[in-house]
Amino acid sequence: MSRPRTSQKASRFTESVIREMTRLAQKHNAVNLSQGFPDFPAPEVIKRAACDAILADINQYAVTWGAKPLRDAIAADFTRRWGVPVHPDEHLTVCCGSTEAMISTMMAIVDPGDEVVVFEPFYENYGPDAILSGATPKFVRLHSPDWAFDPRELEAAFSNKTRAIIINTPNNPTGKVFSREELELIARLCQKWGAIAVTDEIYDHILYDGAVHVPMATIDGMADRTITINSVSKTFSVTGWRVGWTIGPADITNAIRKVHDFLTVGAAAPLQAAAAVALSLPVSYYRDLAADYERRRDRLMKILESAGFVCYEPRGAYYIMTDISAFGFPDDVAFARHLVSEIGVAAVPGSSFYREAASGHTKLRFCFCKKDETLDAAETRLAALRAKV
Ligand SMILES: Cc1ncc(COP(=O)(O)O)c(C=O)c1O
Repeated sequence: MSRPRTSQKASRFTESVIREMTRLAQKHNAVNLSQGFPDFPAPEVIKRAACDAILADINQYAVTWGAKPLRDAIAADFTRRWGVPVHPDEHLTVCCGSTEAMISTMMAIVDPGDEVVVFEPFYENYGPDAILSGATPKFVRLHSPDWAFDPRELEAAFSNKTRAIIINTPNNPTGKVFSREELELIARLCQKWGAIAVTDEIYDHILYDGAVHVPMATIDGMADRTITINSVSKTFSVTGWRVGWTIGPADITNAIRKVHDFLTVGAAAPLQAAAAVALSLPVSYYRDLAADYERRRDRLMKILESAGFVCYEPRGAYYIMTDISAFGFPDDVAFARHLVSEIGVAAVPGSSFYREAASGHTKLRFCFCKKDETLDAAETRLAALRAKV
């Protein structure tokens, strides 16, 4: 009997375009400004803490929802920064990166047929997350150039079928930082329809031009209906460590812990120990991080503008979304392929951030979490772009 050998779920989404661009970058020896991982070293002190943890034989399973020293450090950090009480034994689950935190949360709160509101353009994982958890995504557009949403469109997306809304601030790919007013409007809709806010705040320390991060959990009445997701990946330049977490009310945390336990058991124990050390770095570490990224942002903005791109200047996170209409290519994928193979610079086609590919055909995303030498090399290569198109 001939039966499909793979699930319908797995057939409903494609391989990550971002990772595909990274592979193409390797093939063509291109400068990789596609996937958002730093190419500079992580802080010495936390690398040493990771080595020390292994040598001290922290090498067996940690408690499934997270080693106590890390949960204590995360809870203390969140309460210190935002004044929201977090109980490390009740409100926290340590996961394998915010990627696992998001899918565990979705599987813990969504039943098949429930609707989940997602802003578009979106970080590409949220689409498959919705499919895997059985949710029906309802997309609400963030409109360029400032990536504002239309409050009427948002209101229309909510109904009694809405189980949750996913928010990502500071935002990948747009660099938008949601304002307090916007979050208050979202909060009112969550309260009206009994929905949960799932908020991915992994770029919360990477802000420019005085932009201020407002966590959804600090909005009046929202701590009890918000799951805040974060990780060490971006803040400490350790995307390969796979240590992230959720913070939320006890009943939802219990459900997340069960899903998490059976999906992964737990994040790497020695790296959890090192993550606790990372969270004890002084405030100056975070100031320097944001200042370094602001310098890189300004540099890549100049490089891209001189090469003929129209740039949407980000206020947070480490990506620049660009408009590529002026280059006259049929679509974003054709242009991205040209850029990687002929010019030697990899970027991500805009269509990977939209449900309908056509919505992203005039866009391309570059990241700037890169060493000066990497940005220099990109500059040299992109200078050839005008001549070649
Ligand atoms: C918005 C957003 N969320 C989550 C992730 C993945 O984070 P982690 O490494 O913690 O799984 C990324 C990585 O690029 C991201 O941009």
